[in-house]
Amino acid sequence: MIKVVHTIKEVREQVKAWRTEGLSVGLVPTMGFLHEGHKSLIDSSVKDNDRTVVSVFVNPMQFGPSEDLANYPRDLDADAELCASAGADLIFNPEPEEMYADGFCSFVDMIGPTAELCGKSRPIHFRGVCTVVSKLFNIVQPDRAYFGQKDAQQLAVIKRMVTDLNIPVEIIGCPIIREADGLAKSSRNTYLNEEERKAALILSKTIFMGQELVKNGLTDAAELISRMKENIETEPLAKIDYVDVVNFDDVSRKDTIGDNTLVAMAVYVGKARLLDNFIIEKK
Ligand code: PAJ
Repeated sequence: MIKVVHTIKEVREQVKAWRTEGLSVGLVPTMGFLHEGHKSLIDSSVKDNDRTVVSVFVNPMQFGPSEDLANYPRDLDADAELCASAGADLIFNPEPEEMYADGFCSFVDMIGPTAELCGKSRPIHFRGVCTVVSKLFNIVQPDRAYFGQKDAQQLAVIKRMVTDLNIPVEIIGCPIIREADGLAKSSRNTYLNEEERKAALILSKTIFMGQELVKNGLTDAAELISRMKENIETEPLAKIDYVDVVNFDDVSRKDTIGDNTLVAMAVYVGKARLLDNFIIEKK
């Protein structure tokens, strides 16, 4: 069975022991209810590092007042099983009070890359993400940390944060893992009933359609956005939050699609707010 610890002190002691042996350490930050997407991050960490820590913490600070904090799915036993089978070495599962002690009043905030996309509809979200991820970096002090491209803006924000704040952690981005029918894996997919689960396919279908349009030479961002929006609107259960085209490094709006362009969407299907995207890599 994998070791699960709940206190910062226990993580520090374990990592210190590994460090004395000269071992490298990878960190995979998660909010739990782990699936194949998280597992792909753990697999990469296990491959690159001698030891892997998975944090499982539903971070209250990154949820807005009307968001799904209370209903966010949790299953620590299943998470522990997945982590063990993937070859991780330690789970850090703190209570909110362990991370945010009485009197907590320091935050890591960012302007710029947090302004567009999810930052617009979730104004306090990235402040919560940057604060908790900084804390996890300080607690674990890993050599490398793993983030999924599924949350592409989050990945860009974390990369910027470690550069700006000189945090000595290498950030590794990992590709989107999908269900067999294309839907990007997400803990929030559990919110979908059968009908919504079918309707949710409109996200990946639209992503694949967008990719095809770009492959066939479309470079005008406004046209791509409107073609993708039209396609999503054919699904009555889907409600668009945004479809947008930005630079993947600084998440600024782009008029023309070229290298390093992120095409991202957030769409509500029922109660679930789902994300999907594709990136046009540098040639
Ligand atoms: P969570 O949503 O649990 O995701 C943890 C990590 O798994 C993130 O880096 C996310 O991008 C990645 N991930 C989720 N689904 C994926 C998929 N289908 N394919 C590839 N990677 C996937 O993101 C968070 O938690 C939190 O914001 C966190 C960074 C832990 C801070 O609280």
